[in-house]
Amino acid sequence: MASLTIRKLDDAIRDELRLRAARNGRSVEDEVRVILREAARPDALPKADFPHENSILAAKSGQRPKSDITQRVTLIIGGGIAAYKALDLIRRLKERNLHVRVVLTRAAQQFVTPLAASALSNERAYTDLFDPQSEFDAGHIRLARECDLIVVAPATADLMAKMANGHADDLATAILLASDKTILLAPAMNPLMWNNAATRRNVAQLQRDGVVMIGPNAGEMAERNEAGTGRMAEPTEIAEAAEAFLRPPQAQPLAGKRVLITAGPTHEPIDPVRYIANRSSGKQGFAIAAAARAAGAEVILVSGPVDLDEPHGVIVKHVESARDMLAAVEAALPVDIAIFAAAVADWRVVSEGAQKLKKTGAALPPLQLTENPDILATISKSKDNRPALVIGFAAETEHLIDNAKAKILRKGCDWIVANDVSPSTGIMGGDDNTVHLLTRRDSEIDVDSWPAMSKDGVATALVARIAEQFKKANP
Ligand SMILES: Cc1cc2nc3c(=O)[nH]c(=O)nc-3n(C[C@H](O)[C@H](O)[C@H](O)COP(=O)(O)O)c2cc1C
Repeated sequence: MASLTIRKLDDAIRDELRLRAARNGRSVEDEVRVILREAARPDALPKADFPHENSILAAKSGQRPKSDITQRVTLIIGGGIAAYKALDLIRRLKERNLHVRVVLTRAAQQFVTPLAASALSNERAYTDLFDPQSEFDAGHIRLARECDLIVVAPATADLMAKMANGHADDLATAILLASDKTILLAPAMNPLMWNNAATRRNVAQLQRDGVVMIGPNAGEMAERNEAGTGRMAEPTEIAEAAEAFLRPPQAQPLAGKRVLITAGPTHEPIDPVRYIANRSSGKQGFAIAAAARAAGAEVILVSGPVDLDEPHGVIVKHVESARDMLAAVEAALPVDIAIFAAAVADWRVVSEGAQKLKKTGAALPPLQLTENPDILATISKSKDNRPALVIGFAAETEHLIDNAKAKILRKGCDWIVANDVSPSTGIMGGDDNTVHLLTRRDSEIDVDSWPAMSKDGVATALVARIAEQFKKANP
């Protein structure tokens, strides 16, 4: 039997394999086995004659191979102000390797266009029940059946009323009535509409009918000065819930593991109104928390001050300073895996002003600094309660790999995720990331450079790598 060394493969193929493996929650080796098994099936063999269909070209063109897309979502967009977020939801679903077909109600088209929906889904968007082009073969029945899940986002009060009463007077409601698939609703409306007795009755009826709901969340409404329950769940939450329905249970490789993640900046007070901070947005740490949760882990996220929605199903502890963060981290132990993605301030002011510092007209007040506790080193070197896997982040603006190598040895952690945060990269605060994973084996450090991806993509790939590591340790 021939053996294959993945390291010797062409870069594009290796990148594609890693991404495919990460998305499917498998190790690279298992992914190769699945591909070989699929390719060896007699009905699959002729495909080798059509190189334009193979995954290598798909990887080079940045497209995912078609055969990889297995599950389909019909997304119905209702006519609410949150319809604009449904466009982001299309992206989030596609990131999770789901095929998305979009249907817009007539009212939804007042908020977003079918063109935007079809551009994002790479499919025609459907709007009309009496469309001769798609109804020549009862298209609404096809749209209802040719999917694995129907997501309605935003689900308006009106759509829910129609569903609860079995109406089918437009394409969206006809699909919903003709479907035997799971329906996931993400309601979004003004809190008064949500709390109205009619909506309460409709929600109760829909729940009795087996419809599943995510949200609505509490918070500020689009209308000025209005707050309460009625905000649509965030696109990432909805995508995560959709994936949880569709993903087979074996794709929860971190089930039973406890994972601690830090994220965001820290704020180091100068006086009651001023502080030292940095530009970290917390997006990467939050994405890792969501991915670890999706992989079945119990997740504790210790976050500095950020402006992000809390990931679904994650325990979040909010802190301000580096010292608060260390205390929250220590309180969360023991954990199996600790991932320190926070950009912790290295220094704080020696003596924080009890009152706001005033201009005196004389010399500037000196800010004397002292070093903050080193959270990564403290946990990596702790005698009791050291997690089995400790992962640090290295955000550098020069000599990225050399600095990251020095850091992994200095701090005593097991892995480092290194990224270049020079302003020109747009990584700090942005949605994408290009990382290098450094892993330590005794005195050797391996460097694995990943292609540019979204921060969600990096999170999924990192979690898959962690799962692979634990599987190797406990086969
Ligand atoms: C500016 C604007 C915003 C609206 N936002 C919402 C909303 O967030 N939720 C909702 O249930 N209805 C909302 N409506 C009312 C719906 O658009 C209306 O009930 C429509 O008939 C819904 O149609 P559909 O359920 O077929 O999409 C809004 C209307 C307007 C004009």
